[in-house]
Amino acid sequence: MAAWHRITALSSLLQVGLLLLLFSTRSSGRTLEKCLGGKSCQPPRPPVVLIPGDLGNQLEAKLDKPSVVHYICYKKTDFFTLWLNLELLIPVAIDCWIDNIRLIYNSTTHSSSSPPGVEIHVPGFGQTYSLEYLDPSKRSVGIYFFTIVQAMVEWGYTRDDDVRGAPYDWRKAPNENKEYFLALQKMIEEMAEKAGGPVVLIAHSMGNMYTLYFLNQQPQAWKDRYIKAFISLGSPWAGVAKTLRVLISGDNNHIPVISPLKIRSQQRSAVSTSWLLPYAHSWAKDQVLVQTPTTNYTVLDYQRLYKDINFEDGWMMRQDTEPLVADLRPPGVAVHCLYGSGIPTQASFQYTDKFPDVEPTVVMSDGDGTVNLQSAKQCGLWVGRQKQPVTLKELDGNEHVDMLLNFTTVAYIKDVLFSP
Ligand SMILES: *[C@@H]1O[C@H](CO)[C@@H](O)[C@H](O)[C@H]1NC(C)=O
Ligand SMILES: *[C@@H]1O[C@H](CO)[C@@H](O)[C@H](O)[C@H]1NC(C)=O
Ligand SMILES: *[C@@H]1O[C@H](CO)[C@@H](O)[C@H](O)[C@H]1NC(C)=O
Repeated sequence: MAAWHRITALSSLLQVGLLLLLFSTRSSGRTLEKCLGGKSCQPPRPPVVLIPGDLGNQLEAKLDKPSVVHYICYKKTDFFTLWLNLELLIPVAIDCWIDNIRLIYNSTTHSSSSPPGVEIHVPGFGQTYSLEYLDPSKRSVGIYFFTIVQAMVEWGYTRDDDVRGAPYDWRKAPNENKEYFLALQKMIEEMAEKAGGPVVLIAHSMGNMYTLYFLNQQPQAWKDRYIKAFISLGSPWAGVAKTLRVLISGDNNHIPVISPLKIRSQQRSAVSTSWLLPYAHSWAKDQVLVQTPTTNYTVLDYQRLYKDINFEDGWMMRQDTEPLVADLRPPGVAVHCLYGSGIPTQASFQYTDKFPDVEPTVVMSDGDGTVNLQSAKQCGLWVGRQKQPVTLKELDGNEHVDMLLNFTTVAYIKDVLFSP
């Protein structure tokens, strides 16, 4: 599993590695007809859409920049892989990379955009390749949904046909990805029509927050017709404490050649980082999350925190995005909520007087190594609050990304897909 730990490290390098999955089954007229028709009576098999987490799909960039930060940086290019591309994450090259992947926030329009001359493209919508492997060279370091998709192919699924991916620009929150949700809706409708039955959504990490937002927007009649189930893997329903450290002092996740303070500028610019700060509904109001010699910050002190770390745009990003799923309204579809536990997970941070430009002392608590357990379990709120069943499954000893490779997870997914 060394490869996994490396990819986890790289993921966290930027923000928070998050993933999510969903699956379900279908009982449809078409399958029935096929069976009645005689010959190949296949088991019913619902189409599946995969929704990845933060950093969980490839991004491409095309450059035509007025200026660059270093003479070795390219100024003008065709589309190339910006994420995940290990060659760009080495010293010096990483400066060019940060200058290309960062977002610029406009506090008038409350929207973010790429720097001048940088065009970002999300490749592979409707296909699986851009989330099976984050690195197009398919190095094991970037393996992500491959294990699950490959297992599905062995169960009879066909890539890009009845199992498809819904990658997106994970630097942003749903409020800046409106077209994505329209495309997702259309793809689900097309897959359901073609299969003659509803679709199972499988999301990982932040992809679950995206999926919840999407389902909250859809009328119940639409969900009844098109969604069989939502399989949620490792969701940060109430945010992740680690994002505080990422915003305050940056997080190189123990990769020594990368300076946390350098990567911090990119990490702060991603609006989704602020979206994932811990939510007040699930953290105690008096719990100190960040401590400095002069100040204690709780979940109610974000405005002051953003000011004190000299990142006031971040407070606007938080206000823009906090309401998106903060009420954790039930999704209105059958939910299978799987999450890891038993792995030390960053929970609070103690800084010296060099705050915020210094590494903190980290206090750990329970979780999957990325998502705090108290956040992952919030799907339990839906039990009894929606007609459809909500099933929680804690996977003790499962790390946030490793859970996508674990046999228990894959077997659970198979069970959901092939049970009536
Ligand atoms: C922000 O957007 C407004 C409205 O489009 C524009 O006038 C302004 O120049 C933008 N600000 C920056 C810093 O780009
Ligand atoms: C911060 O909280 C800790 C306990 O969590 C307390 O010991 C400390 O005195 C507080 N510091 C300030 C500046 O209030
Ligand atoms: C897979 O998940 C099970 C159930 O949580 C756990 O006991 C096991 O250790 C995991 N295996 C690996 C390799 O992580």
